[in-house]
Amino acid sequence: MKLKKFPAEFEDLLNKNGRKILKEGYASGNFGKKGGTPIEVVKGVIDDAVAADCVAILHENFHGRLKNVASRLDPQAITSMKKNYSEKLAKTLKMQTLELGVNKTKTNQMAHDCGLMQMMASDSLKAFAEAVTKEPFGQAQNNQIICYRHGDYVSPHNDHHPENEDIRHGYYDIHLMFSNEHVKHQWLVYEKDGFLNSTYDIASPSAIAIYRLPFWHYTTPMMGREGKEDKAHRWLLLRSFEMPEKRKRK
Ligand SMILES: [Fe+2]
Repeated sequence: MKLKKFPAEFEDLLNKNGRKILKEGYASGNFGKKGGTPIEVVKGVIDDAVAADCVAILHENFHGRLKNVASRLDPQAITSMKKNYSEKLAKTLKMQTLELGVNKTKTNQMAHDCGLMQMMASDSLKAFAEAVTKEPFGQAQNNQIICYRHGDYVSPHNDHHPENEDIRHGYYDIHLMFSNEHVKHQWLVYEKDGFLNSTYDIASPSAIAIYRLPFWHYTTPMMGREGKEDKAHRWLLLRSFEMPEKRKRK
């Protein structure tokens, strides 16, 4: 049956494997493993046909409504260098994004009408992520939609927010990711033992990433299939959670 809007509960997007995680927990993974980077990308829990419906809903409602965000390399980072090997890379990125909230905006209303707001706020989304991390989450923060087009990427960064009291001791991110059939490849690269050399392939029709930030990571440029570059879109639905109160160090 074709989905016309997102279900009120995230659980209803999941297949048998996904529901099993909700019921019985998540056996393997980086969380809780000694020396493991606190990130897990879970695949095979949403059927490809359902993922394609999600892409269609997102495209219909939000294509062309997201804001372009771009931060370029600073040319002076090269010309002002005085010493060999002293280069420093600032965060650069290129993508499209839309913050979702409670204000009466057209896009917030659309996110509500297509069921996205309700699904992102659903108990089963939080429960699924907590089952994977085996760690309880605190209060929910913002929702955001991101769209990667051909050539979009984010350079290395760590998502540490020392100026923000609510999340300066860390926070959780859930990324529901959906790629259309024109996406060829994109990689998420993350730190492990002091090197940026661990990877996840994130170009699959669907995947769910759960992070406990901060740590270093980046995404390689999303590449569309030859001749279909203009049509390649990878959608990312993001919801963040604070640490539970008792884990927030004073
Ligand atoms: Fe990030």
